[in-house]
Amino acid sequence: MINFKYEISKLINETLDEPIKELEQYIEIPKDKLNGDYAFACFRLAKTLKQSPNIIAKQIYDKINKTAEIIDDIQIIGGYLNFYINKKLLVKEVLTEIENKKIDYGKQNIGKNENIVIDYSSPNIAKPFHIGHLRSTVIGGALYRIYKFLGYNSIGINHLGDYGTQFGKLIEGYKRWGKEYDIENNPIDELTKIYIRINELCKEDEKVLEECRNNFKKLEENDEFCIKLWKKFKDLSLKEFEKVYKLLGSEFDSYNGEAFYADKMEEVIDLLEKSGKLIESQGAQIIDLEEKNMPPCIIKKTNDSTTYATRDLAAILYRIRTYNFKKALYVTSYEQILHFKQIFEVAKLLGIEERYVERLEHVPFGMVQLKSGKMSTREGNIIKLEELLNEAINKTLQIIKEKDTNLTIQEQKEIAKKVGIGAIIFNDLSNSRIKDEIFDWDTMLNFNGETGPYIQYTYVRTNSILNKVEDLPKIEEVDFNVLINNEEIEVIKLLYSYKMIVETAAQKNEPSIVSRFLIELSKKYSAFYNESKIMTENKNIQNARIYLTYATNLVLKSAANLLGIEMPTKM
Ligand code: ARG
Repeated sequence: MINFKYEISKLINETLDEPIKELEQYIEIPKDKLNGDYAFACFRLAKTLKQSPNIIAKQIYDKINKTAEIIDDIQIIGGYLNFYINKKLLVKEVLTEIENKKIDYGKQNIGKNENIVIDYSSPNIAKPFHIGHLRSTVIGGALYRIYKFLGYNSIGINHLGDYGTQFGKLIEGYKRWGKEYDIENNPIDELTKIYIRINELCKEDEKVLEECRNNFKKLEENDEFCIKLWKKFKDLSLKEFEKVYKLLGSEFDSYNGEAFYADKMEEVIDLLEKSGKLIESQGAQIIDLEEKNMPPCIIKKTNDSTTYATRDLAAILYRIRTYNFKKALYVTSYEQILHFKQIFEVAKLLGIEERYVERLEHVPFGMVQLKSGKMSTREGNIIKLEELLNEAINKTLQIIKEKDTNLTIQEQKEIAKKVGIGAIIFNDLSNSRIKDEIFDWDTMLNFNGETGPYIQYTYVRTNSILNKVEDLPKIEEVDFNVLINNEEIEVIKLLYSYKMIVETAAQKNEPSIVSRFLIELSKKYSAFYNESKIMTENKNIQNARIYLTYATNLVLKSAANLLGIEMPTKM
């Protein structure tokens, strides 16, 4: 497919002696359509050419080939050259490309199958899977698919929180009162209760605390009984988490959590010792980071046990060796910004190549708030994720039932699942990730808002139009020259931009770029739909508009799938 930016750069390159690749970078897409489809900002050349932008613009304009096929018009405004591209060519290019590539339209191989490690979801065993983990799961999953679409080999890692002193406590609590709790059927809730209870007891009785510490020590030393219990907690918790993953369609390539690094931390400590930077402070082993304006990174606590940070350092070493990654992303809330800054800094002391340290990237996101206030507290009142997802499905089912549709009960249920889950996912991804998110049912389930259901609804609309024709017209027989209305061109332009959209989303690790695109495309398509009759007497026009609908249908589905949203065919 024609790369208009590149072609315009080529035209400019014929008028002056600057490399095409560089010129391409100076081309912008004007905010205001009146300023053309592309604008070349001449001030970017002012320094090298030692001339004012206005003069440069004039010189290029005088020399440039104004009759090139790719453009309809060029205009000068101050130091800018505005290019109006050949719309007919654009329409033909985009629709032909979509016809050829179908659902693979927009796919690229810039990743050359290199590995991208994405650490996401990563809930803690025996603790509730909270709404923050949901965001991590949704954002990480979207990035996983976006990178795949670009030809990278994405590797999804669920870095489970399955290690640490709290397991010593859980084991102690279970030893004492295990029989009183139904952990088989309701593991997370019951284990949480045990945990709270044993914590209380520890506060009262120093000896119990000592027992807990002992248990953890035994766990580290592979004591059979402790390992058995730990495994039981882990398996039961995972079974709970899987329910959420199943509803969301999440998959991971590895479940190597913190415990996996138990025998790999010794090396980290050795390396840090060798670096000469590991120092003792109040009985703990730390790396001082004052020079970097950060609190110290604790490698070993006073009681000799390792930390979350130590395990992350071991994980860095392991992931470099195992995956030789192009990038390693960590998707967590912004509460962990400091943690990752610290470990990325300390990683430099592990003797690994600089380029690997540079490839580590924290991808933070904002908190979730209920419209009515806080989402959860430490004391309980925690919203269970599985229940939340099921509530989304039920609420959607209610909405569907109220509508006058002739869907079977079975169909209604299937649709409610796609729409309910889609609404939650879309809500999570609709704004730039760092922003705090407001969780409000009415907003996210509004079929006319900037929501998942709205996009799905638009998709269903394209489907029902396509169902009206028996066969899609043959592309050779379609006269694309009839697509000239503003609304039609706007849709085409968005379809054209899809490839760049996905690329930018990956560059910024920002799935919201794709979700905004979906909203734009849905809106522009709806405008087209409201403005123009698709089924008309004029078969020429009808065929072209059907084709436009078909192309929109494919791209809506492709982009939604990148985010993890399934599209219903009816609604
Ligand atoms: N388990 C942690 C939490 O719930 C998140 C782990 C993120 N990944 C990592 N490699 N530190 O907060």
